[in-house]
Amino acid sequence: MTNSIDRFKHIDNHKLKDTKVFGDRFYAIEYVVPNNPRYLEVGVGDGHYSEHIVQYKSPKVMHLLDRYDSPDYIYGKYTKDTHEDFIKEKFKDQNVTTIKGDSKQVLESLINNQYDYIYLDAGHDFDSVSNDLNLAAKMLAPNGVIGINDYTYFSPIDKEEYEVVEAVNLFLFNNPGWIVVGYQLGHRGYADIYIKLV
Ligand SMILES: C[S@@+](CC[C@H](N)C(=O)[O-])C[C@H]1O[C@@H](n2cnc3c(N)ncnc32)[C@H](O)[C@@H]1O
Repeated sequence: MTNSIDRFKHIDNHKLKDTKVFGDRFYAIEYVVPNNPRYLEVGVGDGHYSEHIVQYKSPKVMHLLDRYDSPDYIYGKYTKDTHEDFIKEKFKDQNVTTIKGDSKQVLESLINNQYDYIYLDAGHDFDSVSNDLNLAAKMLAPNGVIGINDYTYFSPIDKEEYEVVEAVNLFLFNNPGWIVVGYQLGHRGYADIYIKLV
């Protein structure tokens, strides 16, 4: 494993010259997400973000990957046993496929697919984000975009450190063709960063 000093990189300025800044991740969708995308979300929760993708971008394919084992702690809409069914029912009118499992085990099974937009919001530790991002990059169609949620060092709700910034910055450092097309500030610092290969 890379030690924490070696893995910390800043984003070079030339990757930021066309970055658009947004105040909220739902405003960002209109600008950063291609129309009618083949869409993959990794870490779906209650489908709140997917709902907005459906509303504004009418995805032609929706692959929703999650462990589907977390109850809805806030509103109690589903239990750990009904999580996947809740998402299937919520998006029953869409062309949706749920993929159940830990992204470290199951994401690779999608490697032959091509997506126009991939949103990463599953594990927030360095190894999980690095794994998900490196695989997502291989599945991205030309001109596609990857959005990474919780681009921050600390979650004030979970009261725990996140390692998303380190993982994303190191990915950008190691992959010279990738640039940042968008950044959303996020309430309470839960930022998103949107990247693509040019
Ligand atoms: C914060 S919620 C996602 C919220 C959703 N993306 C949104 O913005 O509306 C995080 C989800 O990631 C899932 N998750 C966490 N770690 C995961 C992993 N390693 N593999 C698959 N799913 C994971 C959890 O089960 C949870 O449903």
